[in-house]
Amino acid sequence: MDTLGEIAHLVRGCTDCELHQGRTNSVPGEGAHDAELMFIGEGPGYQEDRQGRPFVGPAGQFLEELLESIGLTREDVFIANMVKCRPPQNRDPLPGEIRACSKYLDRQIELIDPLLIVTLGRFSLARFFPGESISRARGRLRRHGLRNLYPVMHPAAALHRAANRETIVQDFQAIPAILDRLRQGDASAPQDPAPPPAELSPQSEQLPLF
Ligand code: URA
Ligand code: SF4
Repeated sequence: MDTLGEIAHLVRGCTDCELHQGRTNSVPGEGAHDAELMFIGEGPGYQEDRQGRPFVGPAGQFLEELLESIGLTREDVFIANMVKCRPPQNRDPLPGEIRACSKYLDRQIELIDPLLIVTLGRFSLARFFPGESISRARGRLRRHGLRNLYPVMHPAAALHRAANRETIVQDFQAIPAILDRLRQGDASAPQDPAPPPAELSPQSEQLPLF
């Protein structure tokens, strides 16, 4: 898989897990191929399945508002999902489905090589930091191997609950300053000689924000 277009082509014809049976369209992901900022959601919902595009339903409308609040549009970023086909009745994706689909996301991340990955919700959080709760992990810049990660809640979880909405709005407000800081390269090497907190996996480390 040498290009994002080739990945999208393969995803559109993929039958590597059960989810292909119920789909109308698979949803490879879309956006700028050289995006600094990449978002990873969970999987397509009803509207996404119908249109073959990520985040085009109610959660997507909220995501667009959140992007607009920090001066960005969806064309500025790349938007992908953990699984590329809609789970029936919007159920959670199963571990085997996530495993079968991960080759596409892995390669998308490699090709886009974003400066910052924002995980939306618990499934994409678990891809990098398994076992961590979203309520504890959200709103903190992290490293995972070579990648800079910033977990936030899923917009669908924040849409109809005022407290969550406030939280995700605030977490988005921090993104421009995080990007600035990463552009300056001061997070490219560990700055803090202190050992990471015990609950973090050895691969991850905390980056104090300012
Ligand atoms: N929710 C997701 O996680 N992804 C989408 O593409 C749409 C809604
Ligand atoms: Fe293939 Fe992923 Fe769709 Fe499963 S969810 S059929 S692995 S593209």
